[in-house]
Amino acid sequence: MRAQVLLVGLFPALGARAIRILMSNDDGWGELYVRSFFHALAAAEHDVVLSAPAENKSGSSSLDIEPSPRKAPCQYDSCAANSGPIGRNETSPRLNWVNSFPVTSMRFGIELTGPQLWNGEAPELAVTGPNVGSNLFLQVPFSGTVGAASFAAKNKKIPAIAFSGASSGNLAFNTSPEPLRSTLYAELATTLTNAVVASGRPFLPEDVFLNVNFPKVEGQCTQASQFKWVLSRINIGVFSDKDTELCGKTRLPTETSVVGTDGCFISISVGDANDKTTAAADKQAIVAKKLQSLLTCLP
Ligand SMILES: *[C@@H]1O[C@H](CO)[C@@H](O)[C@H](O)[C@H]1NC(C)=O
Ligand SMILES: *[C@@H]1O[C@H](CO)[C@@H](O)[C@H](O)[C@H]1NC(C)=O
Repeated sequence: MRAQVLLVGLFPALGARAIRILMSNDDGWGELYVRSFFHALAAAEHDVVLSAPAENKSGSSSLDIEPSPRKAPCQYDSCAANSGPIGRNETSPRLNWVNSFPVTSMRFGIELTGPQLWNGEAPELAVTGPNVGSNLFLQVPFSGTVGAASFAAKNKKIPAIAFSGASSGNLAFNTSPEPLRSTLYAELATTLTNAVVASGRPFLPEDVFLNVNFPKVEGQCTQASQFKWVLSRINIGVFSDKDTELCGKTRLPTETSVVGTDGCFISISVGDANDKTTAAADKQAIVAKKLQSLLTCLP
């Protein structure tokens, strides 16, 4: 009895809120944005495993090719030369690299690395990024960040979220101190991840992924509390069926217009994992309801 009370007091969020999360990206496992996010999710008590490319594989969309033995060191000297087709950080075995593409890294994480570290269990959520640079509209089909998330949602039926940040410029995993843009994007991505988890199972409708784009960290947008979340669509909807009704309209704003609006707006598009276009209104409606306490309307 006493032990139970103690446990409940110590870990109020555990159980319902802490889950197994597989993460990947396309800028490489040694890129700081993904490392900051990894640490933020772990600090939020999640059980996180990173499985990402050994080097920058931006723009590789949904390519999936068996990893080949690595000859050169990994990016930023993050692994030694000639260290095989896959590898990990020996002091932090939850940090893993795959010498191939983002989708391949996600696949290895879901099928192999994650279950090895989770007593055979599968991930409950997949996240990618934050990508260094936006993934909006016409960039979406080419993005490895989106490719890996839609692979998890479509091929593995694991709910998935792709994150990208407009503030770019590559940073090594051991950059010290961590620049604000890296820790702020990590904090915002963790906020949305926790909101999705808190909304209950299933975390997302089947065969969808969320495409989330953060505006630049600059000017008035330098603290998490200044950012606002807006439900958006990936592509322009001129000839498309109606979107879910929100903010008094049946047409959601495009993600490009959301991040382009003055005032720290973050776009959340509900993507169809089959073709990386905007998901249908019924699936948008489920996400809108799950995230209603977070969402605002554009001015
Ligand atoms: C990563 O690759 C993309 C696409 O090839 C390129 O635009 C970007 O500059 C690369 N980043 C680095 C740090 O090399
Ligand atoms: C490996 O993990 C250690 C301990 O967490 C860390 O200090 C180091 O920077 C990591 N190196 C790489 C390449 O991930």
